[in-house]
Amino acid sequence: MSNQKIIVLGASGYIGSATVKTLASLNANVTAGVRDPTKVKELETAGASVVKADMGQTQSELASVLKNYDYLYVVTPGHIDRTNLAINAIKAAQEAHIKYILVVSIPAADNLEILFGRQFNPIEKELKLSGLNYGISRLPIFTNNIFGSAEHIKSHNTFYGPIDGDKKFVTVAIQDAALAAATILLNPSNHIGKTYTITSELSSSDEQAQSYSQALARPIKYVKETFEETKKALLNIIPEWMADGVLELYKLIEKQEQSQVTFTNDFKTLTGKEPTTHLKFMQQFSVAF
Ligand SMILES: NC(=O)c1ccc[n+]([C@@H]2O[C@H](COP(=O)([O-])OP(=O)(O)OC[C@H]3O[C@@H](n4cnc5c(N)ncnc54)[C@H](OP(=O)(O)O)[C@@H]3O)[C@@H](O)[C@H]2O)c1
Repeated sequence: MSNQKIIVLGASGYIGSATVKTLASLNANVTAGVRDPTKVKELETAGASVVKADMGQTQSELASVLKNYDYLYVVTPGHIDRTNLAINAIKAAQEAHIKYILVVSIPAADNLEILFGRQFNPIEKELKLSGLNYGISRLPIFTNNIFGSAEHIKSHNTFYGPIDGDKKFVTVAIQDAALAAATILLNPSNHIGKTYTITSELSSSDEQAQSYSQALARPIKYVKETFEETKKALLNIIPEWMADGVLELYKLIEKQEQSQVTFTNDFKTLTGKEPTTHLKFMQQFSVAF
């Protein structure tokens, strides 16, 4: 068991907090780097240390925090300026002589025709040119996004989206992304210069509805709506730039573009475990639905 010091930046978010908790449960020496340490008591309870760190600090300020650690996980934030925030963190890691850095990206990072591609592509480029020992964790659409439809499923057993019900696409459960990242960070020497795409399932919305029906023991159905209706629903939970980016991903799914339909065995290869299917996921979280 490695006792190298690991710091996770962006640790208050979904991916960051799940990774910190997974690392803590594996007795790793893990620190959550967050903008507001008062807001993450549950990470301390889980056994992590907490330190104030902001990807928006100057490079040298951030480097002065990072120099106390060996390995770094940059959870690229869901922020309109995420390209600069993540690149700043990579440069600070260089200045701090971080021994290994893992960065969150997306499967469509090579696609400069979409906003998210244009945001993540320069981050991956910067990382590859940094001279650092790096890894990239590309994450597709989260299985957990179904929580955004919990009220609809509870009230009328339906969830909505803008694509045909039979179009397949890959998803990742946050717990799988976290376990994969923890596995990499506990033993980074095996993962230098590697780009992983962590996928939990390739399935269509209709197939997901079948899994939800089985898990909840009542019929759940998927209903196709217009892109405009989906955008209106997304605007209740995320900012407009991000909603537009998500709609571009749905367009890629509609076209069955490779980045959205390629299932990889990276999760199983890394962790030796079976990924969390939509069925397992819904069985695990059924009380919320
Ligand atoms: N939802 C999906 O389906 C999906 C799929 C693939 C990829 N992604 C992307 O994967 C990444 C991780 O997802 P997530 O849901 O865990 O991310 P998130 O919650 O949107 O962001 C992660 C964290 O970044 C931190 N952060 C640091 N500096 C920041 C700054 N200046 N402004 C805003 N935030 C800052 C925040 O943590 P602190 O408060 O601790 O600093 C925030 O909690 C995001 O980029 C997300 O867009 C999402």
